[in-house]
Amino acid sequence: MKLAIVDDIKNIECDVLIINKFIGKETSNELINRFAPENFKGEKGQIFVIHTQDKTPAKQILAIGLGNETEINNNIIRENVAKAIKKCAQLEAGKVAIDFDTKYNYGAPAFLGASIANYHFDKYKTKKEKHVKELFLSSNVDLEAVSKAEVIAESMKLTRDLSNEPAQFATPSKLAEIAKSIEGIETEILEKEKCEELGMGAYLAVARGSVESPKFIHMKYIPQNPKKRIAIIGKGLCFDSGGLDIKPANSMLNMKDDMSGSACILGVMKAISKIKPDVEVHGIIASCENMPSGSSYKPGDILKAMNGKTIEVDNTDAEGRLTLADALCYACELDVEEVIDIATLTGACMVALGSIASGIMGNNNDFVQKIIKTGEIVGEKYWELPMWQEYRDNMDSDVADMKNTGTRYGGASAAGMFLKEFVSDNVKWAHLDVAGTAFLDKPQKEFSKGSTGIGVRTLIKYIIG
Ligand code: BES
Ligand code: MN
Ligand code: ZN
Repeated sequence: MKLAIVDDIKNIECDVLIINKFIGKETSNELINRFAPENFKGEKGQIFVIHTQDKTPAKQILAIGLGNETEINNNIIRENVAKAIKKCAQLEAGKVAIDFDTKYNYGAPAFLGASIANYHFDKYKTKKEKHVKELFLSSNVDLEAVSKAEVIAESMKLTRDLSNEPAQFATPSKLAEIAKSIEGIETEILEKEKCEELGMGAYLAVARGSVESPKFIHMKYIPQNPKKRIAIIGKGLCFDSGGLDIKPANSMLNMKDDMSGSACILGVMKAISKIKPDVEVHGIIASCENMPSGSSYKPGDILKAMNGKTIEVDNTDAEGRLTLADALCYACELDVEEVIDIATLTGACMVALGSIASGIMGNNNDFVQKIIKTGEIVGEKYWELPMWQEYRDNMDSDVADMKNTGTRYGGASAAGMFLKEFVSDNVKWAHLDVAGTAFLDKPQKEFSKGSTGIGVRTLIKYIIG
């Protein structure tokens, strides 16, 4: 979708002009006043479309209700513009203009809503999805905010594309290649031998069963005199078959999405390279595949992570936490104050929160609360799950420092307690479990089926402030 900024939005020739209506607020728009049905009061999400019969430069007008003007915020605008844009696509409108009658700065959330809704993963389809080709916004909107929204939208698209791509395309080597192609970011790829040298025995055990070589990716954005240093880590399982503890067919079906955390990190680093905040950002991905084969790691194996702690493999399908263990150790040695990891980590989190909210845990309450708040602002929900010692006790092993799984229930918290073992006490750490939110099996709000790009908006907003 191309964006054009125009001075005289009311007179732009387009297929659909999207205008707004607030509850109880008179509108000067004659078309709404004359033709809107009785029940069109401007309630959130109400839509009314009218053909203007050549009376205006726009062929059709679409009016969308935005609720009470006093309650307006970015989330309401983004979601409702998304709804309007989907309607436009159905109407096969190629050129769409948005002109809202409000003092609220609607430009950026409107653009973001339009881009999110206009996204389809149809690269491999010969018949493409219907979509809007060109969007017009008035030059009255906050143009700086809109250009930031353009960067965010582009990052979300990269993230969504990568996690929608099949595992045959999005391999560890491909992720490494994409990381290296981001301009303005210095990227180091640690090959298997280097990881061995560093003692990443947990990560490398997971990678061992696959013919795809593991790629440990370290992206660095280092400005002069940064006001703080942060590392962001994404789970990068390019495919999770479960390994020798193989998953049943139904559970394996979407496991190409098990690198959504790493796709998020790639998207965020791309945005950071353009927005250039005065924060040092390290993007880290321990990518590999979890496959069953003669060289796979086995239940009962005892692994040693980079910080020297030993892990008895209880279940080879609890592989994400093993790769993250070494990534967390590595990140904590970078002299950063904060570490955030994002991972499609547990089915248990998906059971608890569904596709509506991601789980969040951490070792510092203020830090966790800040991220939850950031999520609220950008429209990504996080719900804190407990980090009680009892979850850790369940993972005690007879032969090693810990096992990689606990009891059957409370799996999201157990995974959180496992990860905590690999985080230094002097860094603030938060873990985002996005198993339920990264990939949708049916459309939800602005999003089509498939990848949502979860985490991109939260992490960018958290970093740039
Ligand atoms: N990648 C899965 C978690 C997952 C499940 C993500 C559903 C997205 C949708 C993870 O590696 C996994 O297999 N977890 C196991 C852990 C168990 C063996 C302790 C799970 O949640 O069942
Ligand atoms: Mn697994
Ligand atoms: Zn997994």
